[in-house]
Amino acid sequence: MVKAKQNKMIYSFSDEEIFLAKETLKRLLLWYQKSHRDLPWRKTRDPYCIWISEIMLQQTRVEAVKEYYRRFLETLPNISALAEAEEEQVLKLWEGLGYYSRARNLQKAACEIMEKHEGVFPSDWDSVRKLPGIGDYTAGAILSIAFGQPVPAVDGNVLRVLSRVLHDEADILDNKTKVRMSELLRQVYPHEHCSEVTQSLMELGAMVCVPNGDPKCHECPLSEICIAKEMGDADTLPVKSKKTARKIEQKTVLILQSGEKYAIRKRTERGLLHGMWEPINCEGHLLESEIKKQYPLAQKIKKNGTHRHIFTHIEWDMIGYSVELPEQVGDYQWVSKEELKSTYAIPKAFQPFFKDLKQKYF
Ligand code: ADE
Repeated sequence: MVKAKQNKMIYSFSDEEIFLAKETLKRLLLWYQKSHRDLPWRKTRDPYCIWISEIMLQQTRVEAVKEYYRRFLETLPNISALAEAEEEQVLKLWEGLGYYSRARNLQKAACEIMEKHEGVFPSDWDSVRKLPGIGDYTAGAILSIAFGQPVPAVDGNVLRVLSRVLHDEADILDNKTKVRMSELLRQVYPHEHCSEVTQSLMELGAMVCVPNGDPKCHECPLSEICIAKEMGDADTLPVKSKKTARKIEQKTVLILQSGEKYAIRKRTERGLLHGMWEPINCEGHLLESEIKKQYPLAQKIKKNGTHRHIFTHIEWDMIGYSVELPEQVGDYQWVSKEELKSTYAIPKAFQPFFKDLKQKYF
């Protein structure tokens, strides 16, 4: 039940909800202590490392994060190193993870911590939450995992677990559901082992109470209390409202090569992938004859495969050509393979078109 009071929502929960939430955390803690994965960011309580890992984990799978995390911390081992780094270097370390504004926000937040908190990661909710790029989930993860505070971190994994245990049919894409579940957890969070409690919810969602397919109820430490398990419909939860269809855009991507150099350019400072480097590309699917018209000096034009890339609201349906030129035409940056590897961050959407370079250089 929700009541509005002084602009603040007050949630009240049934005894059963409180009981199930408490039991969930108690059982998960015991399970986690015996059977969690040994992951690099679980070997530390340094808030800087936890922060970096959490932002990366919002982007991609645990297995893929391991190498990004290692490289990032080896290159920029602390807040001041991140604050002082060149933006291009930070983007390069983020290359392939997507959502590059997250990398920029990491650096902005590091600068703010240097300026406003004397370089020490803050440990109170309001200060952490005010940092650029840190929302409720990340603030909860940092405060509980690094600082041991009883603050939940509720993401899609955690919502899935709670929806099933409670048999809660609220739409988890509705922010109100997230706020309500966070409040329920906040009311029952223990005051000890908060780091492990937070991670136990994440771990169960990742390893046992999985999406898309059968949850592994037979190995779940919550199977005795989970209402969805009892009702036999765990696979129908959580409820997610239908999202609006993505817009599909056609594109042609040209890998212009002259000798050993490739043409790239910087995207505009606004919009999707702003400020990133990209190969030359345009709207629509061009014919070979149209490319020949644009680059009359071209010595060779070859089809270079196709690729679809899915962003949150847009999908790019791309065709590629490689174009060999006798000279470095156009107002482009002409760069070597080595420079592509070391200096320029090329978004994942375009990487498949750099065919010969892909394995070795990205
Ligand atoms: N997903 C989000 N945060 C995580 C963490 N700390 N460990 C494993 N998976 C996660």
